[in-house]
Amino acid sequence: MGSRIIGCGKALPQRVVSNDDLAEFVDTSDEWIYTRTGIKNRRIAIEETTTDLGCEAAEKALGRIEGGWCLDGETIDPASIDLLICMTISPDMVVPSQAALLKARLGLPNAVAFDLNAACAGCIYGLDVASSMLELSAFDGRRVADGGRRTRNAMKRALVVGSERLTRLVDWTDRGTCVLFGDGAGAVLLEWRDDDPGILASFLKNTDDVDDVLVTPNFFDMSTFPFAPAATARGELSCAGMRIDAPDETVAALRAQQGGEVLEAMESAFIIMQGQAVFKFATSAMTEAAQAVCERADVPLSAVKCIVPHQANERIIRYAAKKLGVSEDLFQVSIAEVGNTSASSVLMALADAYASGRIEEDDPVLLVGFGGGLTAGAILFQA
Ligand code: UT7
Repeated sequence: MGSRIIGCGKALPQRVVSNDDLAEFVDTSDEWIYTRTGIKNRRIAIEETTTDLGCEAAEKALGRIEGGWCLDGETIDPASIDLLICMTISPDMVVPSQAALLKARLGLPNAVAFDLNAACAGCIYGLDVASSMLELSAFDGRRVADGGRRTRNAMKRALVVGSERLTRLVDWTDRGTCVLFGDGAGAVLLEWRDDDPGILASFLKNTDDVDDVLVTPNFFDMSTFPFAPAATARGELSCAGMRIDAPDETVAALRAQQGGEVLEAMESAFIIMQGQAVFKFATSAMTEAAQAVCERADVPLSAVKCIVPHQANERIIRYAAKKLGVSEDLFQVSIAEVGNTSASSVLMALADAYASGRIEEDDPVLLVGFGGGLTAGAILFQA
Protein backbone atom coordinates (compact mmCIF):
# COMPACT_ATOMS: atom_id res chain seq x y z
CA MET A 1 0.00 0.00 0.00
CA GLY A 2 1.12 3.54 -0.60
CA SER A 3 0.74 6.83 -2.48
CA ARG A 4 1.24 6.21 -6.16
CA ILE A 5 2.01 8.84 -8.78
CA ILE A 6 -0.77 8.46 -11.36
CA GLY A 7 -0.36 11.69 -13.31
CA CYS A 8 2.32 14.26 -14.09
CA GLY A 9 2.54 17.44 -16.17
CA LYS A 10 4.48 20.64 -16.67
CA ALA A 11 3.87 24.10 -18.09
CA LEU A 12 6.16 26.81 -19.43
CA PRO A 13 5.61 30.46 -20.29
CA GLN A 14 5.83 31.43 -23.98
CA ARG A 15 8.78 33.81 -23.86
CA VAL A 16 12.18 32.13 -24.44
CA VAL A 17 15.20 34.16 -23.28
CA SER A 18 18.61 32.92 -24.41
CA ASN A 19 22.00 33.52 -22.83
CA ASP A 20 22.79 35.85 -25.74
CA ASP A 21 19.64 37.85 -24.95
CA LEU A 22 20.88 38.32 -21.36
CA ALA A 23 24.34 39.32 -22.60
CA GLU A 24 22.69 42.33 -24.22
CA PHE A 25 22.08 43.97 -20.85
CA VAL A 26 24.38 42.27 -18.27
CA ASP A 27 28.11 41.63 -18.46
CA THR A 28 27.96 37.92 -19.28
CA SER A 29 28.23 35.51 -22.20
CA ASP A 30 26.68 32.31 -23.52
CA GLU A 31 30.05 30.63 -23.03
CA TRP A 32 30.27 31.58 -19.30
CA ILE A 33 26.68 30.64 -18.50
CA TYR A 34 26.66 27.35 -20.40
CA THR A 35 30.01 26.05 -19.16
CA ARG A 36 29.35 27.05 -15.52
CA THR A 37 25.71 25.95 -15.32
CA GLY A 38 24.55 23.95 -18.37
CA ILE A 39 21.84 26.56 -19.04
CA LYS A 40 21.16 27.73 -22.63
CA ASN A 41 17.68 29.23 -22.38
CA ARG A 42 15.05 29.96 -19.76
CA ARG A 43 11.37 30.90 -20.02
CA ILE A 44 10.17 34.18 -18.58
CA ALA A 45 6.52 34.77 -17.72
CA ILE A 46 5.55 38.11 -19.21
CA GLU A 47 1.81 37.49 -19.58
CA GLU A 48 1.43 34.28 -17.54
CA THR A 49 0.78 34.27 -13.81
CA THR A 50 1.82 31.66 -11.24
CA THR A 51 -1.85 30.55 -11.33
CA ASP A 52 -1.83 30.19 -15.14
CA LEU A 53 1.30 28.03 -15.08
CA GLY A 54 0.20 25.89 -12.13
CA CYS A 55 -3.22 25.34 -13.71
CA GLU A 56 -1.78 24.18 -17.02
CA ALA A 57 0.60 21.73 -15.34
CA ALA A 58 -2.23 20.39 -13.14
CA GLU A 59 -4.64 20.03 -16.09
CA LYS A 60 -2.03 17.89 -17.82
CA ALA A 61 -1.51 15.73 -14.72
CA LEU A 62 -5.31 15.28 -14.51
CA GLY A 63 -5.49 14.28 -18.19
CA ARG A 64 -7.78 17.22 -18.99
CA ILE A 65 -5.46 18.58 -21.67
CA GLU A 66 -2.83 16.95 -23.88
CA GLY A 67 0.84 16.89 -23.01
CA GLY A 68 0.95 15.17 -19.63
CA TRP A 69 1.51 11.61 -18.46
CA CYS A 70 -1.40 9.68 -16.95
CA LEU A 71 -1.03 6.11 -15.68
CA ASP A 72 -4.45 4.91 -16.76
CA GLY A 73 -4.88 7.36 -19.63
CA GLU A 74 -8.18 8.62 -18.27
CA THR A 75 -9.42 12.07 -17.30
CA ILE A 76 -9.71 12.46 -13.55
CA ASP A 77 -13.01 13.52 -11.95
CA PRO A 78 -12.34 16.92 -10.30
CA ALA A 79 -14.63 16.01 -7.40
CA SER A 80 -12.28 13.13 -6.54
CA ILE A 81 -9.36 15.44 -5.62
CA ASP A 82 -9.25 15.75 -1.83
CA LEU A 83 -6.07 17.76 -1.33
CA LEU A 84 -4.08 20.38 -3.25
CA ILE A 85 -0.67 21.50 -2.01
CA CYS A 86 1.15 24.22 -3.92
CA MET A 87 4.84 24.75 -3.38
CA THR A 88 6.01 28.22 -4.37
CA ILE A 89 8.11 31.18 -3.31
CA SER A 90 6.47 33.42 -5.93
CA PRO A 91 2.70 33.21 -5.37
CA ASP A 92 0.40 35.63 -7.19
CA MET A 93 -0.99 36.73 -3.81
CA VAL A 94 -0.21 36.32 -0.12
CA VAL A 95 -3.92 35.73 0.59
CA PRO A 96 -5.61 33.72 -0.83
CA SER A 97 -2.88 31.13 -0.96
CA GLN A 98 -1.59 30.05 -4.36
CA ALA A 99 -3.18 26.65 -3.73
CA ALA A 100 -6.59 28.27 -3.07
CA LEU A 101 -6.30 30.24 -6.32
CA LEU A 102 -5.46 27.02 -8.20
CA LYS A 103 -8.30 25.08 -6.56
CA ALA A 104 -10.81 27.74 -7.61
CA ARG A 105 -9.51 27.97 -11.19
CA LEU A 106 -9.29 24.18 -11.58
CA GLY A 107 -12.77 23.68 -10.12
CA LEU A 108 -11.94 21.14 -7.44
CA PRO A 109 -14.97 21.33 -5.13
CA ASN A 110 -13.72 18.95 -2.44
CA ALA A 111 -10.03 19.77 -2.25
CA VAL A 112 -8.43 21.18 0.88
CA ALA A 113 -5.78 23.61 -0.38
CA PHE A 114 -2.72 25.24 1.16
CA ASP A 115 0.78 26.43 0.26
CA LEU A 116 4.11 25.08 1.38
CA ASN A 117 7.44 26.89 1.17
CA ALA A 118 10.59 24.82 1.33
CA ALA A 119 12.26 26.85 -1.44
CA CYS A 120 13.80 24.70 -4.19
CA ALA A 121 13.27 21.47 -2.21
CA GLY A 122 9.56 22.33 -2.05
CA CYS A 123 8.32 19.51 -4.23
CA ILE A 124 10.07 16.88 -2.10
CA TYR A 125 8.52 18.34 1.07
CA GLY A 126 5.13 18.72 -0.67
CA LEU A 127 5.07 15.13 -1.88
CA ASP A 128 6.02 13.89 1.59
CA VAL A 129 3.32 15.96 3.31
CA ALA A 130 0.67 14.92 0.77
CA SER A 131 1.52 11.22 0.94
CA SER A 132 1.60 11.37 4.76
CA MET A 133 -1.90 12.87 4.79
CA LEU A 134 -3.18 10.18 2.40
CA GLU A 135 -1.59 7.48 4.56
CA LEU A 136 -3.12 8.81 7.78
CA SER A 137 -6.48 9.03 6.05
CA ALA A 138 -6.16 5.38 4.97
CA PHE A 139 -5.46 4.35 8.59
CA ASP A 140 -8.45 6.41 9.66
CA GLY A 141 -10.57 4.63 7.04
CA ARG A 142 -9.58 1.30 8.52
CA ARG A 143 -10.54 2.49 11.99
CA VAL A 144 -13.95 3.56 10.64
CA ALA A 145 -14.37 0.17 8.93
CA ASP A 146 -13.70 -1.45 12.30
CA GLY A 147 -16.55 0.56 13.85
CA GLY A 148 -14.41 3.41 15.15
CA ARG A 149 -14.81 7.16 14.61
CA ARG A 150 -13.38 9.27 11.76
CA THR A 151 -10.76 11.61 13.18
CA ARG A 152 -9.67 13.51 10.07
CA ASN A 153 -10.67 14.35 6.47
CA ALA A 154 -10.98 11.35 4.17
CA MET A 155 -8.41 11.75 1.40
CA LYS A 156 -7.56 9.47 -1.49
CA ARG A 157 -6.22 11.76 -4.19
CA ALA A 158 -3.82 14.69 -3.83
CA LEU A 159 -2.57 17.19 -6.40
CA VAL A 160 0.93 18.42 -5.66
CA VAL A 161 1.86 21.48 -7.73
CA GLY A 162 5.06 23.51 -7.91
CA SER A 163 4.56 26.82 -9.68
CA GLU A 164 7.03 29.69 -9.87
CA ARG A 165 7.47 33.11 -11.45
CA LEU A 166 10.93 33.45 -9.99
CA THR A 167 11.99 36.04 -12.52
CA ARG A 168 9.92 38.57 -10.55
CA LEU A 169 12.35 38.04 -7.65
CA VAL A 170 15.49 38.41 -9.72
CA ASP A 171 17.76 41.44 -9.69
CA TRP A 172 18.37 41.88 -13.42
CA THR A 173 21.53 43.86 -12.72
CA ASP A 174 23.15 41.02 -10.74
CA ARG A 175 24.87 38.70 -13.23
CA GLY A 176 25.66 36.23 -10.42
CA THR A 177 21.97 35.33 -10.06
CA CYS A 178 19.90 36.67 -12.97
CA VAL A 179 21.30 34.17 -15.47
CA LEU A 180 20.27 31.18 -13.35
CA PHE A 181 16.52 31.35 -12.84
CA GLY A 182 13.43 30.76 -14.95
CA ASP A 183 9.66 30.35 -14.67
CA GLY A 184 7.48 27.26 -14.97
CA ALA A 185 5.27 24.75 -13.18
CA GLY A 186 5.13 21.03 -12.55
CA ALA A 187 2.33 18.91 -11.10
CA VAL A 188 1.87 15.39 -9.82
CA LEU A 189 -1.32 13.54 -8.96
CA LEU A 190 -1.00 11.09 -6.07
CA GLU A 191 -3.51 8.37 -5.32
CA TRP A 192 -3.61 6.14 -2.25
CA ARG A 193 -3.65 2.50 -3.31
CA ASP A 194 -4.01 -0.48 -0.99
CA ASP A 195 -2.27 -2.77 -3.48
CA ASP A 196 0.60 -0.58 -4.75
CA PRO A 197 3.76 0.50 -2.91
CA GLY A 198 4.02 3.97 -4.56
CA ILE A 199 6.24 6.16 -2.37
CA LEU A 200 8.63 3.83 -0.55
CA ALA A 201 10.51 6.27 1.68
CA SER A 202 11.36 9.90 2.25
CA PHE A 203 14.13 11.92 3.87
CA LEU A 204 13.93 15.60 4.85
CA LYS A 205 16.54 17.77 6.52
CA ASN A 206 17.01 21.45 7.37
CA THR A 207 20.39 23.02 8.05
CA ASP A 208 20.36 26.55 9.48
CA ASP A 209 21.51 29.12 6.94
CA VAL A 210 23.65 30.94 9.50
CA ASP A 211 25.69 32.78 6.85
CA ASP A 212 22.64 33.86 4.80
CA VAL A 213 23.98 32.09 1.72
CA LEU A 214 20.57 32.02 0.04
CA VAL A 215 17.93 34.55 1.03
CA THR A 216 15.01 36.46 -0.47
CA PRO A 217 13.92 39.14 2.02
CA ASN A 218 10.44 40.48 2.51
CA PHE A 219 9.67 44.15 2.67
CA PHE A 220 6.91 45.24 5.05
CA ASP A 221 5.63 48.76 4.57
CA MET A 222 4.67 50.40 7.92
CA SER A 223 4.23 53.85 6.44
CA THR A 224 0.41 53.82 6.84
CA PHE A 225 0.52 52.91 10.57
CA PRO A 226 -0.68 56.13 12.26
CA PHE A 227 1.30 55.70 15.51
CA ALA A 228 4.59 54.92 13.83
CA PRO A 229 7.29 57.40 14.77
CA ALA A 230 8.26 59.40 11.70
CA ALA A 231 11.57 57.62 11.78
CA THR A 232 9.99 54.24 10.99
CA ALA A 233 7.77 55.59 8.23
CA ARG A 234 10.37 54.51 5.71
CA GLY A 235 9.29 50.95 6.30
CA GLU A 236 10.38 47.89 8.07
CA LEU A 237 12.90 45.48 6.79
CA SER A 238 13.58 41.95 7.86
CA CYS A 239 16.12 39.52 6.61
CA ALA A 240 17.41 36.24 7.94
CA GLY A 241 17.33 37.08 11.63
CA MET A 242 18.18 40.70 11.04
CA ARG A 243 15.24 42.99 11.72
CA ILE A 244 15.56 46.62 10.83
CA ASP A 245 12.90 49.00 12.04
CA ALA A 246 14.95 52.04 12.56
CA PRO A 247 15.49 55.68 11.74
CA ASP A 248 17.04 56.43 8.40
CA GLU A 249 20.39 57.32 10.02
CA THR A 250 20.60 53.90 11.66
CA VAL A 251 19.79 52.20 8.39
CA ALA A 252 22.45 54.32 6.72
CA ALA A 253 24.96 53.25 9.39
CA LEU A 254 23.96 49.60 8.92
CA ARG A 255 24.26 49.96 5.20
CA ALA A 256 27.81 51.20 5.61
CA GLN A 257 28.58 48.40 8.09
CA GLN A 258 26.97 45.47 6.23
CA GLY A 259 27.75 46.50 2.71
CA GLY A 260 25.48 48.59 0.53
CA GLU A 261 24.72 45.87 -1.98
CA VAL A 262 23.10 43.47 0.43
CA LEU A 263 20.89 46.10 2.04
CA GLU A 264 19.85 47.57 -1.31
CA ALA A 265 18.86 44.12 -2.45
CA MET A 266 17.06 43.47 0.86
CA GLU A 267 14.91 46.53 0.32
CA SER A 268 14.01 45.26 -3.11
CA ALA A 269 13.22 41.68 -2.04
CA PHE A 270 15.49 40.04 -4.61
CA ILE A 271 17.15 36.62 -4.49
CA ILE A 272 20.58 37.10 -2.85
CA MET A 273 23.00 34.19 -3.08
CA GLN A 274 26.55 33.23 -2.27
CA GLY A 275 26.93 30.87 -5.21
CA GLN A 276 29.97 28.89 -4.15
CA ALA A 277 28.67 28.26 -0.63
CA VAL A 278 25.34 27.04 -2.03
CA PHE A 279 27.19 24.84 -4.52
CA LYS A 280 29.14 23.21 -1.69
CA PHE A 281 26.01 22.67 0.41
CA ALA A 282 24.13 21.28 -2.61
CA THR A 283 26.55 18.51 -3.47
CA SER A 284 26.81 17.18 0.08
CA ALA A 285 23.07 17.63 0.81
CA MET A 286 22.01 15.75 -2.33
CA THR A 287 24.43 12.91 -1.61
CA GLU A 288 23.28 12.57 1.99
CA ALA A 289 19.57 12.68 1.06
CA ALA A 290 19.91 10.17 -1.79
CA GLN A 291 21.84 7.69 0.34
CA ALA A 292 19.54 8.09 3.35
CA VAL A 293 16.31 7.56 1.42
CA CYS A 294 17.68 4.39 -0.23
CA GLU A 295 18.67 3.07 3.17
CA ARG A 296 15.21 3.82 4.59
CA ALA A 297 13.53 2.06 1.66
CA ASP A 298 16.04 -0.80 1.80
CA VAL A 299 16.65 -0.34 -1.93
CA PRO A 300 20.30 -0.15 -3.04
CA LEU A 301 21.19 2.93 -5.09
CA SER A 302 22.39 0.53 -7.80
CA ALA A 303 18.78 -0.65 -8.25
CA VAL A 304 17.44 2.87 -8.90
CA LYS A 305 16.49 3.29 -12.58
CA CYS A 306 16.20 7.09 -12.76
CA ILE A 307 17.31 9.96 -10.52
CA VAL A 308 15.44 13.26 -10.90
CA PRO A 309 17.43 16.00 -9.14
CA HIS A 310 16.75 19.68 -8.52
CA GLN A 311 17.90 21.48 -11.67
CA ALA A 312 20.11 24.25 -10.25
CA ASN A 313 23.36 23.62 -12.10
CA GLU A 314 24.44 20.75 -14.34
CA ARG A 315 27.83 20.75 -12.60
CA ILE A 316 26.12 20.15 -9.23
CA ILE A 317 24.39 17.12 -10.76
CA ARG A 318 27.68 15.78 -12.13
CA TYR A 319 29.42 16.24 -8.76
CA ALA A 320 26.55 14.46 -7.01
CA ALA A 321 26.78 11.55 -9.49
CA LYS A 322 30.50 11.28 -8.78
CA LYS A 323 30.06 11.43 -5.00
CA LEU A 324 27.30 8.81 -5.16
CA GLY A 325 29.38 6.60 -7.45
CA VAL A 326 26.64 6.28 -10.07
CA SER A 327 26.55 7.05 -13.77
CA GLU A 328 25.53 10.56 -14.85
CA ASP A 329 23.25 8.84 -17.39
CA LEU A 330 20.97 7.84 -14.53
CA PHE A 331 20.08 11.50 -13.95
CA GLN A 332 17.28 13.38 -15.70
CA VAL A 333 18.91 16.65 -16.75
CA SER A 334 16.45 19.25 -18.04
CA ILE A 335 18.20 22.47 -17.03
CA ALA A 336 19.46 23.55 -20.50
CA GLU A 337 16.12 24.91 -21.71
CA VAL A 338 14.52 26.08 -18.45
CA GLY A 339 17.19 27.09 -15.91
CA ASN A 340 16.47 26.84 -12.20
CA THR A 341 12.71 26.96 -11.54
CA SER A 342 12.94 26.41 -7.75
CA ALA A 343 9.95 24.49 -6.31
CA SER A 344 8.79 23.50 -9.81
CA SER A 345 12.12 22.11 -10.94
CA VAL A 346 11.98 18.45 -9.82
CA LEU A 347 8.35 18.01 -10.92
CA MET A 348 9.06 19.60 -14.31
CA ALA A 349 12.05 17.29 -14.78
CA LEU A 350 9.92 14.33 -13.66
CA ALA A 351 7.36 15.26 -16.34
CA ASP A 352 10.21 15.22 -18.89
CA ALA A 353 11.34 11.80 -17.66
CA TYR A 354 7.81 10.39 -18.06
CA ALA A 355 7.38 12.08 -21.46
CA SER A 356 10.63 10.60 -22.79
CA GLY A 357 9.59 7.11 -21.67
CA ARG A 358 12.63 6.61 -19.44
CA ILE A 359 10.43 5.67 -16.46
CA GLU A 360 8.82 2.25 -16.77
CA GLU A 361 6.25 0.61 -14.55
CA ASP A 362 7.71 -0.71 -11.27
CA ASP A 363 11.01 1.18 -11.73
CA PRO A 364 12.47 2.56 -8.48
CA VAL A 365 12.79 6.34 -9.08
CA LEU A 366 14.65 8.79 -6.84
CA LEU A 367 13.71 12.47 -6.51
CA VAL A 368 16.28 14.63 -4.73
CA GLY A 369 16.47 18.35 -4.03
CA PHE A 370 17.95 21.15 -1.96
CA GLY A 371 17.26 24.84 -1.51
CA GLY A 372 17.14 27.94 0.66
CA GLY A 373 16.39 27.33 4.27
CA LEU A 374 18.63 25.36 3.92
CA THR A 375 16.38 22.51 2.90
CA ALA A 376 17.26 19.12 1.49
CA GLY A 377 15.27 16.01 0.81
CA ALA A 378 14.65 12.91 -1.23
CA ILE A 379 11.75 10.64 -2.14
CA LEU A 380 12.08 7.11 -3.44
CA PHE A 381 9.05 5.71 -5.24
CA GLN A 382 8.11 2.71 -7.29
CA ALA A 383 6.67 3.87 -10.60
O1 UT7 B 1 18.31 26.45 -6.23
C1 UT7 B 1 19.42 26.66 -5.42
C2 UT7 B 1 20.10 27.90 -5.72
N1 UT7 B 1 21.32 28.01 -6.37
C3 UT7 B 1 22.31 27.16 -6.66
O2 UT7 B 1 22.27 25.99 -6.52
C4 UT7 B 1 23.54 27.78 -7.23
C5 UT7 B 1 24.81 27.16 -6.73
N2 UT7 B 1 25.98 27.83 -7.25
C6 UT7 B 1 26.31 27.82 -8.55
O3 UT7 B 1 25.65 27.22 -9.37
C7 UT7 B 1 27.57 28.54 -8.96
O4 UT7 B 1 28.29 28.93 -7.82
C8 UT7 B 1 27.30 29.78 -9.87
C9 UT7 B 1 26.82 29.32 -11.24
C10 UT7 B 1 26.27 30.68 -9.24
C11 UT7 B 1 28.58 30.58 -10.06
O5 UT7 B 1 29.59 29.75 -10.62
P1 UT7 B 1 31.04 29.74 -9.97
O6 UT7 B 1 31.86 28.83 -10.79
O7 UT7 B 1 30.88 29.40 -8.51
O8 UT7 B 1 31.52 31.22 -10.19
P2 UT7 B 1 31.99 32.30 -9.09
O9 UT7 B 1 30.85 32.78 -8.30
O10 UT7 B 1 33.18 31.75 -8.38
O11 UT7 B 1 32.48 33.48 -10.03
C12 UT7 B 1 33.63 33.33 -10.88
C13 UT7 B 1 33.78 34.60 -11.71
C14 UT7 B 1 33.71 35.88 -10.86
O12 UT7 B 1 34.60 36.81 -11.46
P3 UT7 B 1 36.07 37.02 -10.83
O13 UT7 B 1 35.83 37.48 -9.42
O14 UT7 B 1 36.75 35.69 -10.89
O15 UT7 B 1 36.66 38.05 -11.72
C15 UT7 B 1 32.30 36.37 -11.08
O16 UT7 B 1 32.18 37.77 -10.94
O17 UT7 B 1 32.70 34.70 -12.64
C16 UT7 B 1 32.07 35.98 -12.52
N3 UT7 B 1 30.67 35.84 -12.85
C17 UT7 B 1 30.23 35.92 -14.12
N4 UT7 B 1 30.85 36.15 -15.28
C18 UT7 B 1 30.10 36.16 -16.39
C19 UT7 B 1 29.62 35.58 -12.02
N5 UT7 B 1 28.50 35.51 -12.74
C20 UT7 B 1 28.84 35.72 -14.03
C21 UT7 B 1 28.11 35.75 -15.23
N6 UT7 B 1 28.79 35.97 -16.39
N7 UT7 B 1 26.79 35.55 -15.28
